[in-house]
Amino acid sequence: MSAPAWSVRRLHALDDPHIDGLADVLIDCVEGGASVSFMHPLSRDRAVAFWHRVGQGVAAGERALLVAEDAGGLCGTVQLVLDQPENQPHRADLVKMLVHRRARGQGLGAALMRAAEATARECGKTLLVLDAVTGGDAERLYQRLGWARVGVIPGYALLPRGGLCATTYYYFDLTAEPQGS
Ligand SMILES: CC(C)(COP(=O)(O)OP(=O)(O)OC[C@H]1O[C@@H](n2cnc3c(N)ncnc32)[C@H](O)[C@@H]1OP(=O)(O)O)[C@@H](O)C(=O)NCCC(=O)NCCS
Repeated sequence: MSAPAWSVRRLHALDDPHIDGLADVLIDCVEGGASVSFMHPLSRDRAVAFWHRVGQGVAAGERALLVAEDAGGLCGTVQLVLDQPENQPHRADLVKMLVHRRARGQGLGAALMRAAEATARECGKTLLVLDAVTGGDAERLYQRLGWARVGVIPGYALLPRGGLCATTYYYFDLTAEPQGS
């Protein structure tokens, strides 16, 4: 089996090139129709402002940020929101799972998820929660990786070009035996 064309790492601080690359990935995903908090068209200024705010959370230790890079630069990312209410210190939310369209369908999404799960364990977390557009590409990924489906909320958000979509909640118990063990 050949080595993947990308590498995944955790960033503890964001510099301008990181923010530029992350903005490219976010804009590409919104352009491609992903429902990830933003409406189309997403301007570079708004995308950059979003990643600056994420960078502040990363620097404060409130978020863990993973990025994937290939020969063309930054091509994927995912975050864990570590900062939770005091009665949920064991939990994190997995958010903004994004793979640039040029890098999809090669296993990068799965690699980012596994890296996020490993990072969550390193941070002392035992429970992860996420939500995904019902019936979208991401749902298949999460189900394939063994995430447990909780249920559907109809009419949860707007798609980038308008029209409501449902969201499905999932959780992952990090204390459970890994699949295939
Ligand atoms: C959802 C998303 C992260 C998946 O990323 P990805 O890198 O394409 O994920 P993978 O490559 O691991 O899996 C995607 C598909 O490629 C297939 N695949 C993986 N490796 C492969 C390979 N080497 N050869 C052929 N196919 C492969 C997988 O089986 C999967 O197939 P499926 O879509 O039929 O289930 C990506 O589509 C994305 O960023 N979407 C927009 C943003 C978004 O919606 N994020 C989720 C928010 S909840």
